[in-house]
Amino acid sequence: MADKTATLTIDGNAFELPIHSPTAGPDVIDIRKLYAQAGVFTYDPGFTSTASTDSTITFIDGGKGELLHRGYPIDQLAGKSHYLEVCYLLLYGELPTAAQLEDFEARVTNHTMLHEQMMNFFRGFRRDAHPMAIMVGVVGAMSAFYHDSTDISDPWQREVASIRLIAKMPTIAAMAYKYHVGQPFVYPKNSLDYASNFLHMCFSVPAEEYHPDPILARAMDRIFTLHADHEQNASTSTVRLASSSGANPFACIAAGIACLWGPAHGGANQACLEMLREIGTVDRIPEFIARAKDKEDPFRLMGFGHRVYKNFDPRATVMKESADEVLDLLGVENNPILQVAKELEKAALADPYFADKKLFPNVDFYSGIILEAMGFPTSMFTPIFALSRTVGWISQWKEQLSDPQLKIGRPRQLYLGETLRDYIDIENR
Ligand code: SDX
Repeated sequence: MADKTATLTIDGNAFELPIHSPTAGPDVIDIRKLYAQAGVFTYDPGFTSTASTDSTITFIDGGKGELLHRGYPIDQLAGKSHYLEVCYLLLYGELPTAAQLEDFEARVTNHTMLHEQMMNFFRGFRRDAHPMAIMVGVVGAMSAFYHDSTDISDPWQREVASIRLIAKMPTIAAMAYKYHVGQPFVYPKNSLDYASNFLHMCFSVPAEEYHPDPILARAMDRIFTLHADHEQNASTSTVRLASSSGANPFACIAAGIACLWGPAHGGANQACLEMLREIGTVDRIPEFIARAKDKEDPFRLMGFGHRVYKNFDPRATVMKESADEVLDLLGVENNPILQVAKELEKAALADPYFADKKLFPNVDFYSGIILEAMGFPTSMFTPIFALSRTVGWISQWKEQLSDPQLKIGRPRQLYLGETLRDYIDIENR
């Protein structure tokens, strides 16, 4: 029972709305009975003030620049944990014991191969197809192969689907990359850790030995961790809405991948690097800052700003450290793109427009620089984001399915179209 209520008065009629208090963050006003009681809808395009669900997985305090996964701060997880352990935490709610982690990693490792026949899907794409198009297609097609893990009413099948998706996304992303560059697919190697295996599947070739550099593998693992989950963002909300109709897990994750592709969301890392390349040199930064501030110009600084963080994105802080490590290792600390990135960040943060609008580098600003330094083409940046975010989508999907109040998501609207009118025969138009 809510301990507080809000009173809404419409035309002299008062409606009491329960207020629920969270363990952290703002209170919520429960409007579930509003339409039945008052005959009105609320209006919130973009859901800037709407809680679409309750959740126990991830908490973001946009003002403090805080990101917690099951209560653990992202900087501690990025510094002390690793991606598969964070996957376990997101999926099951607690950090694993050594035995639980060993069992979980073994289960993931033993699902990394893709059904051999699925390779045919890749060959149906043009070589220059965007790898996100391939991932949407191949992940959706998993529901045509893994029939023994599509029944969402069966907890065992939900668990198998979860492990399969986390295990196979790196394989699918790597295969999309190999297909794009015209090299043979590389099978996963169970002796490698998750991040090293992904680098192996992307960068090894049959013609020579390939040993993933441990520093690059660590940076890759950290990128996976920093992108793992992020509350009710656009792609996670897409997965939840798709799942609310009872769609199978592979279809729901394919929907999440499609949403993530947009440049305002997960596509920002690719768009950010393309922007840095377009800027090209430090002396052109003022021109682009001016364009970003010009209301008449649709140009925005990609990798800047965030719907929730209005102080700084804690992931960007950690990502920036990794960028310096990787570029030092690769001897490209003088990378012109990185120079432009660092000067752009400095110029934007010193500019009142960005400070007033709380626009600062987000997670996508530095991730693209690291990925480029590692040798990935920009078209692979968002697939890597999708690979990382799969555990977040799956954890939120599982949480929603275990909610006894679950019903199909079906928003209403503020209708501004024509009211009732009769059909006009064509001869009278
Ligand atoms: C991700 O939701 C998540 O959690 C997402 C994510 C996750 O982990 O899932 O964190 C991942 O998507 C990070 C964001 C990546 N996107 C980008 O870097 C693209 C560039 N950023 C913008 O598109 C924008 O900042 C958004 C979409 C991220 C947030 O937009 P909002 O909160 O809806 O803000 P807005 O578009 O209403 O902008 C507010 C004001 C506007 O000016 P006014 O109309 O008030 O005068 O700020 C301006 C905007 O014009 N603005 C920018 C800007 N972002 C917002 N101006 C210049 N450059 C920008 N990048």
